[in-house]
Amino acid sequence: MRFWSLVGVVTLLTAGETLAFKAHDFKTCSQSGFCRRGRALSARAKEAKSSWVSPYSVEPSSVSISANQAVFSAAVKSSLYPEINFGLEVRIHDDGVARVRMDEVGGLRKRYDEAASWALIAEPTISKDVKWTTGKKDTRAVYGQKKEIEVVVQHQPLRISLLRNGKEQIVLNGEGLLHMEHFRNKVEATTTEQPEPVEGEGAEGEESSEKAEEQVVLKAENPRAWFEGDTEDALFEETFSSWTDSKPKGPESLSIDIDFPNHGVVYGIPQHATRLALPSTTGKDPTFDDPYRLYNSDVFEYLASSPVSLYGSIPLMHAHSTESTVAVFHVVGSDTWIDVSHESDKSTQTHWISESGILDTFLLPGPTAEDVFKQYTRLTGTSVMPAHWSLGYHQCRWNYVSSEDVRTVQQRFDEEDMPVDVFWLDIEYAEDHKYFMWKDKNFPDPVEMTNDVAANVIVDPHLKRNDDYPAFKQASDLGILVKPPSGQGEYEGWCWPGSSSWTDFFNPASWDWWINIFKPNAVEGRWTWTKSTTDIHIWNDMNEPSVFNGPEISMPRDNIHYGGWEHRDVHNINGMLFSNLTYQAVAARTDPPQRPFVLTRAFYAGSQRFGAMWTGDNLGTWEHMAVGIKMVLANNLGGFSFAGSDVGGFFGNPEPEMLVRWYQVGAFAPFFRAHAHIDTKRREPFLLDEPYKGIVKNILRLRYTLLSVWYTAFRETSVTGMPILRPQFIMFPKDKAGFTIDDQYYIGSSGLLVKPVTEKGAIDAKVYLAEDQVYYDYLTNFAYRGSSKGKEITVPAALHQLPLFLRGGSILATRERPRRASSLMHHDPFTLKVALSQAGTARGELYLDDGVSYDHTKGYFIWREFSAAKSGKKGVRITSKDLGKTKPAEAVDGVSLASYDPSNKFVQSVADVRVEKVVVLGLAGKPSSVKVEGQNEELVWEYVPGVAASEKKDGNASVLVIKDPRVLVKDDWAIVIQ
Ligand SMILES: *[C@@H]1O[C@H](CO)[C@@H](O)[C@H](O)[C@H]1NC(C)=O
Ligand SMILES: *[C@@H]1O[C@H](CO)[C@@H](O)[C@H](O)[C@H]1NC(C)=O
Repeated sequence: MRFWSLVGVVTLLTAGETLAFKAHDFKTCSQSGFCRRGRALSARAKEAKSSWVSPYSVEPSSVSISANQAVFSAAVKSSLYPEINFGLEVRIHDDGVARVRMDEVGGLRKRYDEAASWALIAEPTISKDVKWTTGKKDTRAVYGQKKEIEVVVQHQPLRISLLRNGKEQIVLNGEGLLHMEHFRNKVEATTTEQPEPVEGEGAEGEESSEKAEEQVVLKAENPRAWFEGDTEDALFEETFSSWTDSKPKGPESLSIDIDFPNHGVVYGIPQHATRLALPSTTGKDPTFDDPYRLYNSDVFEYLASSPVSLYGSIPLMHAHSTESTVAVFHVVGSDTWIDVSHESDKSTQTHWISESGILDTFLLPGPTAEDVFKQYTRLTGTSVMPAHWSLGYHQCRWNYVSSEDVRTVQQRFDEEDMPVDVFWLDIEYAEDHKYFMWKDKNFPDPVEMTNDVAANVIVDPHLKRNDDYPAFKQASDLGILVKPPSGQGEYEGWCWPGSSSWTDFFNPASWDWWINIFKPNAVEGRWTWTKSTTDIHIWNDMNEPSVFNGPEISMPRDNIHYGGWEHRDVHNINGMLFSNLTYQAVAARTDPPQRPFVLTRAFYAGSQRFGAMWTGDNLGTWEHMAVGIKMVLANNLGGFSFAGSDVGGFFGNPEPEMLVRWYQVGAFAPFFRAHAHIDTKRREPFLLDEPYKGIVKNILRLRYTLLSVWYTAFRETSVTGMPILRPQFIMFPKDKAGFTIDDQYYIGSSGLLVKPVTEKGAIDAKVYLAEDQVYYDYLTNFAYRGSSKGKEITVPAALHQLPLFLRGGSILATRERPRRASSLMHHDPFTLKVALSQAGTARGELYLDDGVSYDHTKGYFIWREFSAAKSGKKGVRITSKDLGKTKPAEAVDGVSLASYDPSNKFVQSVADVRVEKVVVLGLAGKPSSVKVEGQNEELVWEYVPGVAASEKKDGNASVLVIKDPRVLVKDDWAIVIQ
């Protein structure tokens, strides 16, 4: 299908858009010593073909299996360095996940081995159901319900594979690219020959001047040279642009190939601006020249199609085929480059090259995407239930300049009846960019202002170096700032406030300090943020960390953190600790705690536990609008569903048409915020002319009518780990045509399918339906019938239209009353939209709680199931049932309730909330009666004939509207249509 092969192709920059992305600020692989070495290794392996053999092998005599059978351990040697020892361990968890760890043992120094301790929520439970057997050539574990999974550790050369039913799913070191560079002392050079330019090194590589490196020419016949190359390349010192990295520990990189035989597509490893199904970076027909990179970076005006690293890193990769989904979670906190190649459409090869850290890789056996998400979130946690208001619309700008300004903007939203939940103040609220310190002249009344207007503020991790700034002074006195390479004193770099230092959140002494700062009442006589309220929520930006005058706009890698670890070891984890602590600080302001909202730019595996993220400083272009959708989808696959991109684009002045389309994109992302750069024109939606203004107002209102749908989707992800946004391959894992589709997606289990339009001048759009099912246009009730062979439909998509569908078989609970903010909706009645399937059935859920406290973890919530089933000859029976009662243990947020009280405190607080309308789509004919079961009274209803769900044709669906059935949301009831 030609059309689908074009889907998701992101065009390059348009003519008007200058190449403002500063490529020279960031390393390419060829400018990074360890990446160069890793890629050169793979080039030599490719050249040597079948004669290439990994020098690593298991010492058979050292193999030992723990008494409980779940842990394999063994000594590993590299034939190149017989004097160096490595330890390998493979453990099988109770959910079938296999964890592979390898480290140098008794080395000169210690490799960083704490990445998992920050990412994981708990030490995983070891399986009791594994049997290891050691043979001559290998040691293998067999497990699974039908003993269908096998983990095989081949001894020589070392090769680790995971099989299901005898078929290989994941293979480590199958290509022999494993290389854990051992610690060594610098040997004074014996020769000083210049290195040959290594594979892949272009002109830009040369200007980066690695010439200072000691070069030891090794003999060609030397097997070390055969494996590692002829010359030592950037092992002990490395220069990039004007920066020199002292690399006091010398080389310690880690290279490993991870292959997915029998899996033709891979997804994940956010964050990159590219297609969801990751294009190749090497092998045949690569789309990109460089590997994907994970190195949290503040990339100015990033490209809309590129493998460069962006603000966050989640080293989780899914591999998919019509038969299974599997994944690897490669827990490393250092700079990591990942090559992807698809030698055939049936398998995928990847090569991971990290600067430091131990090998700590989790093999997630699936076999379904649901299983993979469960396995992954059992390791790193699920997204938590957000504060309900945070699913509303966020209005942001750099900057609303004064209290007056914010109040006026809020007033204008109210005058136009445009819903909005919160306003964000960017860095200019703070005097000299000293966060917590209001610019008094412009914000003379911060407490009153934040009480009047729901205003939230930014707090960045850099602290202005000024003794008059209490946050800096306290951190400096406590000795909790990141240290320079000498390990003495305070690292000083340049950021918004000028000369700045950074708190070292790896230092436990920083934790209570940071949590206390946010308290509106002074703690033990210390300065805290007294000019604040417990309603202010926080946006953490620049936490990659961004350092304007540092290498790659970040911190020098040889900076020192707590425990003596270098910044290089923890770089990608750093931003997560900041949002973790801010999240705790915001929660701790009240007793009992209220659900915090923390927005973060940098992230790592596990960041989903601490709030939301956005895709950073995008551009106001169609290309960025389109790729933002893919980036948010990729983030959802990375376990971090609460994601969105800046509506309108951060940079530029989008024309009205683009802005409208961008609102349509934003309204269908879990996190919905408009934001703009300081140099842009004001573009709040009320400033638009008609018809644009009216269209945006309708989009905002549509978002608010669907808030309970989003909230219900969050409940599900908080328990199952299933992403909120679901691309085709998750919904239809066997439909190959859907594997590369990344511009349409489903929202949770709601049955909503959306295809945002991201093309200028569009009047229609193509949507792919993978199944023989009816899809109802959400706004017009037009019924489209899909096909089990897959079918592309063309739907109207002029500016005021939006390709949004309700899948047959779904019941949606919406709140249709226009309100100015979500907080005003708690007692609003519901409308149920019953979209009958071709089989005449439907199902949906509604989850509600108070949206602010943690009472839901005590069982204070409503969780209902609505179903529609055939009743009698042509009748339908719609029922409401209490899921809290039937499945209390699976209800919410990682708590396993033993029981649930259907008349709990929350239920009582919304006892009066009723269903005000029921709309049934696709009935086969006009009913003769509609009644609440057990009551004689005929309900008030209206029927418009049209296409029935069972009919295999397109057309306006039949619509039955039942007005005010007088049933309550909290009750069990049935409505019978005869
Ligand atoms: C981060 O969050 C988790 C809870 O998810 C917590 O257990 C941990 O102690 C937190 N702190 C740090 C510094 O990571
Ligand atoms: C379908 O409904 C639309 C209104 O949504 C109407 O304009 C159109 O005439 C209807 N078509 C038919 C065939 O009834």
